[in-house]
Parts: sequence; structure tokens; C-alpha cells
Amino acid sequence: MKILVPRQTKSGETRVSLTPTAAKRLIELGTDVDVQGGCGTGSHHGDDAYETVGATVTPSHDDAALDLWSHADLVVTIHPPSLDQIQSLRSSATLIGMFDPFRNHDAVQALASQRVTAFSMELLPRISRAQPMDVLSSQANIAGYQAVILAAEACPKIFPMMITAAGTIAPARVMVIGAGVAGLQAIATAKRLGAVVEAYDIRPEVEEQIQSLGARFIKLPAAKKDAATEGGYAKEQTAEERKQQAELMAKHVVSADAVITTAALFGKAPPMLIPADVVHRKEAGTVLVDLAADEQSGRGNCELTEPGKRITTERGVTVEGHTNLPSLSPVHSSQMYAHNMFSFLKEIIVDGQVRLNTDDELQRGPLLTHEGDIMHDMVKKVIEGNGGR
Ligand code: NAI
Repeated sequence: MKILVPRQTKSGETRVSLTPTAAKRLIELGTDVDVQGGCGTGSHHGDDAYETVGATVTPSHDDAALDLWSHADLVVTIHPPSLDQIQSLRSSATLIGMFDPFRNHDAVQALASQRVTAFSMELLPRISRAQPMDVLSSQANIAGYQAVILAAEACPKIFPMMITAAGTIAPARVMVIGAGVAGLQAIATAKRLGAVVEAYDIRPEVEEQIQSLGARFIKLPAAKKDAATEGGYAKEQTAEERKQQAELMAKHVVSADAVITTAALFGKAPPMLIPADVVHRKEAGTVLVDLAADEQSGRGNCELTEPGKRITTERGVTVEGHTNLPSLSPVHSSQMYAHNMFSFLKEIIVDGQVRLNTDDELQRGPLLTHEGDIMHDMVKKVIEGNGGR
């Protein structure tokens, strides 16, 4: 079985889907690994590192490398492929990556028409067996760390307290909104840099986790007992609840040197929690890093966020909308992503071949398309509800 590691073509992407270490482990499982030349350049893995572990490197001047896609039995990627790449795949091929299927309807339908078996790893059930494969968590962890590093770099103040002969410097005040995977890592990173950290989440049950990292939990009446869905994700608020939350949070947002926002709702556009007028009340030199910045919906948690851009308001407040923070630490984000991929592949590869077991929730959960059908019920419902588009 030929496994293809394609070069990522998305602008700004530096990660690779399989590192040489993961490629080696797959070769040990009895598969052949073909890599598109230069696929590891951004993450500092040269073609020679892949050759050393026994992979075949095929130089390809055409970014889309359709000939490589057409010969692969299994493609391990990160982003949704182009329609040309999908149409190059054989109907027996398997594809694994992160395809944002609730919003990428054309790609999902093309995968089904091509009769490809596609796994979209964001759909993995959040069960303990799935943790080593959890791409959302591994990448959000890096993003949470990087958000604080960007904030510290953009902030004209230092983060730790310093008592020196030249005077005492107070620690920076960091506020984190949303204490999921990215938010908790942002809290831990800001604490390590010496900042005083406070955090808010709509789910009151995260109070203990926030406190265990040494941060203060901001209690707002808007945090309700039934704020989470059965899957553990936050429920969508009403417009009135969002407005009330924004008002209650405003004084914390205004007084923070750096605000990191990470509030997310599964499969939906990010909730807008910080209105422009609150940012305009902040001091010059303060920073807001909006991790929820999302190119497709064009929005983030802050009204002023421009996804993919860093802007500075007239008053001098920086609003950072970087949409691919894991690509700023490509060595470790690729290492973790590749580990996630290998952990999943070793579940589905038996005797050097893909053997699907749809009775196993671990395989059934992320299964997006198979034998011409859209297999994920929620995705199917959303696409059909959208008139098949
Ligand atoms: P998560 O689902 O683990 O955490 C999101 C948190 O937001 C949850 O704890 C939830 O309760 C909270 N939340 C939802 N609505 C809220 C509200 N109104 N007020 C306060 N808290 C609220 O998600 P994760 O993995 O931590 O990711 C967070 C965000 O970061 C997502 O939007 C994700 O797409 C994004 N992300 C961005 C990256 C980038 O490069 N910019 C990279 C990786 C993730």
C-alpha cells in the first residue's frame, strides 16, 4: 500500500502531515511511504531525512502533484484537498486530514462522488481511546502557547514582575476568554512568563482547572450551570445573553495588558464577545490576540478582528487575527500532528492494508465519506439542509 505525504499548498502553512519518524513507523507496519519532494521544508525535515527512513521522495514541480495523488492508496494531509486533487484519487483510495466538513460542502460532495473513503479528524469522538489521535487538541495546545508569545512580542511591556535597582516593574495583566484546550495552554504560558492571569469561560465547571494553573476565575452571572452540551462543548448563547456577557466582561478586557480570546462553538462561527467600543477604551500599547479568528466566516471573538491580519487601532491597540498559529511552531506542531495520524492509522491498517471497522466508534466517528455516501449524520444533515450544496 502506497501512502502519500503531499506538500501543503495553503499559503503560510509550514507543517507536514507525517514526519520522518512517523513515516518510519508506517514503513515498519508494512506500507510504502511516498513523499512529495519538499513536503517537510517548512518544518525543517529535508528530503534526505525521509529517504534515510526508507521513504521514496518524488520531486514535483507542480504544487498540486496530481500524478502522485492518482497513484496513492492512502493520502495523509492537513487541509482540504482541491477539487482537482480529489478527482485524481482512485475510488479505492483513503484520505485523512482536517476537512472542516460542516462548511466545505463542495469538497465533501466531491469526495463522496469520487467514492473515496475520507476521514475528517475533527470529527473524532472525544473519548479517552481517541486522545492520542486528537488533532484539534494537539494543534490548539500549540496555538494557545503561540498566542501568548505573539501577545508578549507585540506588547511594549514585559510580562514578569521585576524588582531592580532601577525600580519595580509590575507584572503584566493577561485575560484569557474561553478555557478549553487553547485557553488553558494560554493561561499556563502566560503564568510561566510571569503575568498575572485571569480567565473566563461560560462553563462554570472549568473554574477548578483555571485555578489549578494559578489564574483567577472571573465569575460572571452569565456563566450558567447548563452552559455545555452533552458532548462537553459550550451551547450557543442568545443575542441578549451575549450582550450581557460583553458588558460584564468589559472592565476586565479594558484593564488587561493582553487579552487572548479562544471562545468557540463546535461547527459554528465564533461568538462575537468583545465589541469595538470596548477595545477603543483600552490603553495604547495593549494587545488582543483573537485565536478564534476565522477566515471563512470573516470574524472572531472581537468585532475589530480581521482574520489573517494584525491591525492597530488609532489609539494604538493591537488586534492580532493570525489564523494558523500552529504553523509558527512547525517542528512541534508537525510532530504532534504526525503522532495523531500514526495513532489513527495503526488502528485502520491491518496486514499492510486499510481494513475499515465501522462497528468501532473510533473509526466510525471521523468517517466522512465511504463508497459514495456521506457517512457522518450531522454533516449529511447540514449539507442536505443547504440544498445539497
Ligand atoms: P475548545 O472547544 O476546547 O474551547 C473553547 C472554549 O470556549 C470552551 O471551553 C467553551 O466553553 C468556551 N466558550 C464558548 N463560548 C463562550 C463564551 N461565550 N464565553 C466564554 N467562553 C466561551 O476549543 P479549543 O480547541 O481551545 O480552540 C479554541 C479556538 O481556537 C477555536 O475557535 C479553534 O478553531 C481556534 N484555533 C485557532 C487556531 C489559530 O491558529 N488561530 C489554531 C487552533 C485552534
